[in-house]
Amino acid sequence: MSSRISNAQLAAKVMSSDDAAQFVNHGDKVGMSGFTGAAYPKALPTSIANRATQFHDRGNPFAIDLFTGASTAPDCDGVLAEANAINYRMPYQSDPVIRNRINAGETKYQDIHLSHSAMQVEQGFFGQLDIAIVEVTRITEEGHLIPSSGVGNNLEFLDSAKQVIIEVNSWQSLELEGMADIYRVPLLPNRTPIPITKVGDRIGTPYIEIDLEKVVAVVETDAPDRNSPFKPFDEVSRQIAGNFLDFLEGEVSAGRLTYDGYIMQSGVGNVPNAVMAGLLDSKFENIQAYTEVVQDGMLDLIDAGKMTVASATSFALSPEYAEKMNREAARYRKHLVTRPLQISNSPEVIRRMGLIASNGMIEADIYGNINSTHVGGSRIMNGIGGSGDFTRNAFVSSFISPSVAKGDAISAVVPFASHIDHTEHDAMVVITEYGYADLRGLSPRDRVSKMIAVAHPEYRPLLEEYVERASKNAFQHTPHDLKTAFDFHINLQEKGSMKG
Ligand code: COA
Repeated sequence: MSSRISNAQLAAKVMSSDDAAQFVNHGDKVGMSGFTGAAYPKALPTSIANRATQFHDRGNPFAIDLFTGASTAPDCDGVLAEANAINYRMPYQSDPVIRNRINAGETKYQDIHLSHSAMQVEQGFFGQLDIAIVEVTRITEEGHLIPSSGVGNNLEFLDSAKQVIIEVNSWQSLELEGMADIYRVPLLPNRTPIPITKVGDRIGTPYIEIDLEKVVAVVETDAPDRNSPFKPFDEVSRQIAGNFLDFLEGEVSAGRLTYDGYIMQSGVGNVPNAVMAGLLDSKFENIQAYTEVVQDGMLDLIDAGKMTVASATSFALSPEYAEKMNREAARYRKHLVTRPLQISNSPEVIRRMGLIASNGMIEADIYGNINSTHVGGSRIMNGIGGSGDFTRNAFVSSFISPSVAKGDAISAVVPFASHIDHTEHDAMVVITEYGYADLRGLSPRDRVSKMIAVAHPEYRPLLEEYVERASKNAFQHTPHDLKTAFDFHINLQEKGSMKG
């Protein structure tokens, strides 16, 4: 028996990945572990993709509905999408191959608030899950599962699925044991408050208890998580980080924050990672994170003695930092708690924490509506992820972005956002390399000058011209000139630049 599989009943179920894939059939609803490039099953996706190709070669259909915690990696979403083996996908993706299929209309995608995803599975909104495929670090003698580098929706998938396949990945450090805090949110109508009042509170068990009878296969793997490295920090990211710090300092001056009272949430992406690097040299101490993913910058803050504790559902570490985590998990474990996604992103707990949320965006409009997901209104980038969970419930919600993209062909500040994920009612502060627009306490028209001030200088006159046209509207609460509201986007589509 492998040293990582201590339960005899499950050890008897060990088989090859290709054999285990025979349990997955066309039309199945499959719940997989995986959150960013961490903790996804490393072997089964390729075996399922090969099975799909064999079916397709014989002229038979084969596609699954794939549910995960969030995005995965090329050897999960990527291989399955390449084999055209995904019919429907939820709740989040960021792999280029599946993104192209979705945007081509070949794969259906439902972009769901991450805190809703497992809850909706449990509530039967998608019908019953056929199979859960979950990566773990090890299986205990009792048959309990020790989560690997992420928890995501694993608990609810394992509870809800008719059958279970477990991947035991010996690449994952055994020292991760003790990091996870597994707590079942009681189902309606018996829901009770989640008893977390401090970021580091532990309220559950370090393992997932499952119904052993449902396990049809156990597969052994030894493959690394595969997150992409972050882009090196450039001057613009440094300026954004500086402006974010100015905003935090402003909160301190206003008496709304103290230097040792900052609880952060940090979204995915290169820019949020750069912001964390900026905190290393700041006056803020004893920083805590109630967030979705553990990022490189958080490990740096822990190493520098600046961060005491982070609660998340998964790692989103670059390859270099994932290796570092594997070497030093016993040390990091003292500072990290990984929770089911329903709890890491729980609106109830987020509201209680009083955290400052900062997430990336694609564009914001002059009134502070935010588009995090769609380019030009139609082309999905990744998805809303947890940004809605945090933005709506944070103490202060901020969005950060460079003022332009693709050279300067695209402005991040536009007259009317071409898709809106976070409305003017939720977004409070918008930060670019030109400063921060604090929209709190302002009526829509009073927000306009703040938003134009953080736009790129080349776009400011065009935005002013739009405001001038909108000022002719008979209704002056949120004035728009609907005939030209999307001129920026139409220019981009037709002429390759929002400037026209
Ligand atoms: N139009 C077209 N493309 C745009 C764009 C726009 N308005 N704004 C940014 N982009 C492109 C960039 O050019 C870049 O493309 P590249 O990868 O080809 O270079 C890409 O989007 C990423 O932009 P970047 O400026 O590096 O920002 P980022 O890595 O911080 O990502 C989001 C920005 C919006 C894509 C990302 O934050 C996201 O997916 N957010 C939604 C989910 C979320 O917030 N999750 C966290 C919740 S806890």
